[in-house]
Amino acid sequence: MPTHVPEAFLIGTDDKILYRGAIDNAFASPGKPRAQTTEHYLKQAINEVIAGRHPTRPQIRAIGCIFEPWQKGEDGKSLSLLEPVTYAKHISPILDANCVSCHRSGQVAPFVLNDFTSAKRKARTIVRVCSDGFMPPWNAEIGYGSFIGQRFITQRQIAALTDWVKGGRQQGDVSERGLAPVFPDTKEWPLGQPDLVLTLPEPFLVPADGADIYRHFVLPARTTEDKALVAIDFRPGAAEVVHHVIINHDKTGKARALDRKDKLQGYDPHSRSARRKLSNIWGIDVIESIAGWAPGQLPFQLPEGVAQKLPAGGDLVIEVHYHPNGQAQADQSQVALYFAKKPIKHYAISFVAGTEKIKIPANEADYRRHVWVEIPTDLTIYDVVPHMHLLGQEFIVEATLPNGEKVPLNWIKHWDFRWQDIYSFAKPIRLPAGSRIDVWASYDNTSANHFNPNNPPQPVSNGWATTDEMMLVSFTALLDNPKKENKLWSEVIKCYMRSGVEKIK
Ligand code: HEC
Repeated sequence: MPTHVPEAFLIGTDDKILYRGAIDNAFASPGKPRAQTTEHYLKQAINEVIAGRHPTRPQIRAIGCIFEPWQKGEDGKSLSLLEPVTYAKHISPILDANCVSCHRSGQVAPFVLNDFTSAKRKARTIVRVCSDGFMPPWNAEIGYGSFIGQRFITQRQIAALTDWVKGGRQQGDVSERGLAPVFPDTKEWPLGQPDLVLTLPEPFLVPADGADIYRHFVLPARTTEDKALVAIDFRPGAAEVVHHVIINHDKTGKARALDRKDKLQGYDPHSRSARRKLSNIWGIDVIESIAGWAPGQLPFQLPEGVAQKLPAGGDLVIEVHYHPNGQAQADQSQVALYFAKKPIKHYAISFVAGTEKIKIPANEADYRRHVWVEIPTDLTIYDVVPHMHLLGQEFIVEATLPNGEKVPLNWIKHWDFRWQDIYSFAKPIRLPAGSRIDVWASYDNTSANHFNPNNPPQPVSNGWATTDEMMLVSFTALLDNPKKENKLWSEVIKCYMRSGVEKIK
C-alpha cells in the first residue's frame, strides 16, 4: 500500500514491485520545492529495467501527503477507512467543502452543519440524503456533461459518513479540525465593482409559512445604449428564504406591463395570464434567461470576448423562488451587471428546442416526448437549461456531431421543479453545421408522483400554468456567422412543427 501521495510503483511482468517511492527529488519536504530537480528516481529505475537490470535503488522514501488507506467493507462493496472515523479529522472537511455554503447561519438551508453538535444531531439524516442523492442538491447526472459549480459527494465520502454513524459519531481530536471555510464577504462583490447594480425597489414580504412563492421582479436597466453583458451576479436580501433565482432580460416591455397590473411588487410568473403574455405563438418565452443563481454559486461569467446584448432601455426580470422558513422575512435582493471593457465582435444568442404537443392522460406513469433540432450553422453552446413542470420525471439532452459522435449535454434523471438550474458547461461545446440535438422527456401523471398537483390525477396538456406541462430546453450560443441566426430559428420552428407527429424513440 502506498504511504504517501504521490508514490510511484514500477511493477514487473511477474507482478513483483521493482521500484517504489518518490518520482524525483523536486520536493525537499511537503510544501518545500527545491530550486532544481537533480534526481529522477523513477525515470532512472525505468531505464534500468528496460536495459534488463534491477534498479540500483529499489526504494526511495516518497514525499507528499500521507496516504489515507481504505478497505472493502463487510459487504465486500463499500469502502471504509482503516482508522476510526472522527468528526474533527474526516467528517468536518466533507461537510465544509460540500454543505456549509448553504448549511450555515443566515443561509437558505434549514439548519447549520458547521459544528460538531449540529452535525452529530443530523448524522443519520445526512447519510440518508447523501445516499439517495437529495443532498448536495444537484439534479444533473454526474459524468453526463460537465458543468461549472457542479455539486456532488463521492461514494467514499458517503462511506466515511456511514462509518462515522456506526462508530458512535466520535468528535476526535479537536486540534485536527481544519480551518473553517472562508466565504466571500457578503458586502463585497467577488468580481469587483459592478458597472450597474439593480435593487428591488421595495422589500418583498415573505410570510413565515405557506407554499413556496415564485415571483418575477422587473428592474429597468435605464441604459440609453446597447450594453455588452459579460458577467452577472446576485445577492439575496433575505438569504434564509431565497432558494434560487433565474435572471432574464426583456426588451418587449411585456413584463413591465404585467408588473404594473399586479398590486404587489412584481407578479406571479406561473399565472395563466402572465404565461400567455410572456409567450410567443410557439409557446417560447419572449423574455430571455441570461443567468441563474443558487446559494453558494459562483457569479455567472461568459468566456473572454463573448457577451450577451442588453438592449438599450431593456428590463432585467428576476425570477425568485422563495421557500418560507418559519419566520416572516423582507427580501430586497440585488443584481450586479458587468459590461465588456473592450468592443465585442460577436454577441451570444439563445435558442430552444421543445414541443407544445403534450397531452398526458390521467394515471399515465411514463408519458414520453422526443424532439430534435438540426444545427444549420457552426456554433458553440455555453449552457443548457431544461424545463418541465410538476409531472416531469426525466430529461435527456444529447448532441450528435456530423461524424456520428455523441456528445452528452445534460441528463436529469429525477426532475425536481424546485431545483431548476442553468447548467453552464465547464468547457463550451462546439457544434458544427450538420450536428443535431436530441431531447427526450418523460412525465409521471400518477399519484405515485408526489409532486402531482391533482389528486386524483387529471389529464394534463401543454400550457403555461405550473399545473400544465411544458417541454423546453434553451441554450446560450455563439454563432460563427451571426447572419445565420434566422436559419437556426427556422430549424427551431421545424422542431416544433414536426414534434408529436414523428415516432418517439
Ligand atoms: C445549495 C444549497 C445546499 C447545499 C450545498 C446543501 N444543502 Fe442540504 N438543504 C438545502 C435546503 C434549501 C434544504 C431544505 C429542503 C429543500 O428546500 O428542498 C436542505 C435540506 C437538507 C436536509 C434535510 C432533509 C430532510 O429530509 O429533512 C439535510 C439532512 C441536508 N440538507 C444535508 C445536506 C448535506 C449533508 C449537504 C452536503 C453534502 C447539503 N445538505 C448541501 C440546501 C443545501
